[in-house]
Amino acid sequence: MIFGRNGKRTVVSEMSPHETVLDYLRLREGAMGTKEGCCEGDCGACTVVVRSLQDGKAKYEAINSCIAPIGSLDGRDLITVDDLAASGQLHPVQQAMADKHASQCGFCTPGFVMALYALYENASAGVDRTAITDGLAGNLCRCTGYRPIIEAGLAACNSKAAGDAFGQTEVLDQLKKETSTSLFIGNENSFFAAPATEDELAQIYAEHPDAIIVAGATDVGLWITKHLNKLQKIIYVGRVKGFRDVATDGSGLTISAGATYTDAEEALAHIDPDIGEVVRRIGSKQVRNAGTIGGNIANGSPIGDTPPLLIALDAELTLRKAAGERKMRLEDFFIDYGKQDRKPGEFVKSVFVPNLAENDHFRAFKLSKRFDQDISAVLLGSKLTLDGATIAKGRIAFGGMAATPKRAKHLEAWLKGASLENPSSLSEGVRVALKQDFAPISDMRASAEYRLRAAHGLVMKSLFEIGAEADGAHADTRLVGMRQRASA
Ligand SMILES: Cc1cc2nc3c(=O)[nH]c(=O)nc-3n(C[C@H](O)[C@H](O)[C@H](O)COP(=O)(O)OP(=O)(O)OC[C@H]3O[C@@H](n4cnc5c(N)ncnc54)[C@H](O)[C@@H]3O)c2cc1C
Ligand code: FES
Ligand code: FES
Repeated sequence: MIFGRNGKRTVVSEMSPHETVLDYLRLREGAMGTKEGCCEGDCGACTVVVRSLQDGKAKYEAINSCIAPIGSLDGRDLITVDDLAASGQLHPVQQAMADKHASQCGFCTPGFVMALYALYENASAGVDRTAITDGLAGNLCRCTGYRPIIEAGLAACNSKAAGDAFGQTEVLDQLKKETSTSLFIGNENSFFAAPATEDELAQIYAEHPDAIIVAGATDVGLWITKHLNKLQKIIYVGRVKGFRDVATDGSGLTISAGATYTDAEEALAHIDPDIGEVVRRIGSKQVRNAGTIGGNIANGSPIGDTPPLLIALDAELTLRKAAGERKMRLEDFFIDYGKQDRKPGEFVKSVFVPNLAENDHFRAFKLSKRFDQDISAVLLGSKLTLDGATIAKGRIAFGGMAATPKRAKHLEAWLKGASLENPSSLSEGVRVALKQDFAPISDMRASAEYRLRAAHGLVMKSLFEIGAEADGAHADTRLVGMRQRASA
């Protein structure tokens, strides 16, 4: 595999399939600036920036190097905190951190610097506090406190000079050409493979159905660092042509399985702003730059954030294997806890999300203990089709309420024909229907009772909001509320 370092090509011809970027830096390069904190994507101490070409322009993305396999750098540039002051002068982000006294023990500082560096490079106009806090939601500091760090980010990003030390894109151009064919490092029993086309992916997965597909590694990375799995056969999908595409046509949105949350965020938010807000709260910027929609579906987690939303939107899943494709309603993919309808050698190819009709009203709410960088306790996705103030049809799905992401079919049936003129009158019926639909468990995220009560509250909130919307009383209050919370 090949990636860029400080304007030079770096070829890695031998590696264990599960070697991480952080281990590569610290153990192979001896570059100690990038720190290891939690080693599970939560603290941001290990943040590095990857640079790739998108539509001919350089794009900078912060990722957590502790859970990223070294192979995922293939075809991209790696920039670390050790590289920023290479010319002997502090980078403006580093200088601002020093000027604002934004570091005490310093352990978190390289991670903050790199998260801010990505923001700095991507900043085209003024950067506000919300953008900074959003960009830093995946970085934890125990001793300095966040105010000076945010001030440093504001100061640096809003006085950005044109160009930077990594401005040349020739190496990226060259890398792109060199990584356009399939890659195989290792032998039949232990390998890192990066197929270049979907056909080649289908072929190698058919030959090795016991291999692990790796996309963003925001789940698989933890199998390596926390479960200490020595994964022997990895098929990395980041090189597959077209696998990150996000495309709209007259009927809806097609998201290829390898599209990251960042790739898909804008198009999803375009369907409904609530979806954009839920996606914005998935993990952190680092997690969203790596984690994929396909991975979120394929892992089958009952607390994955996108499946309930996509089920409520009546999304269709396309699975592919060497023998061909098959399609199914997304909800049918989730059979039971840890069990999905996926045959050996079959992978997730894409998901299609049909457009909302004019009389469809959508709502999505995520409840978690922390606002950012936390897994949902309960998540609601709800699409109501109205006839005036009457609910003609509903598709309502939950995460965190059952062993899989699941529709609330009793609730949907009970709401059919109900009027939204007085949503309070529906409260008891909603409560009863939810109890018929779900028997949630108690765990570290929430008790069973909390989950049922929260689900009831979220459904009622959606009914009140949609009722008011149908009435024409208010159009956009939900967004104001969320932004206020986010920047509070
Ligand atoms: C700090 C942190 C915070 C997180 N926060 C959230 C959150 O708020 N909400 C949330 O939903 N999730 C969260 N996650 C979980 C994770 O980000 C998601 O599940 C993510 O979508 C997984 O995608 P990935 O590309 O990283 O998958 P990977 O880790 O690469 O793979 C996950 C699983 O899917 C399989 N797989 C991947 N792609 C395919 C494919 N195309 N076909 C078949 N199988 C495939 C892999 O073999 C593996 O079994 C968080 C993770 C971390 C580390
Ligand atoms: S070490 Fe904590 S996110 Fe990587
Ligand atoms: S400066 Fe010590 S943890 Fe942030």
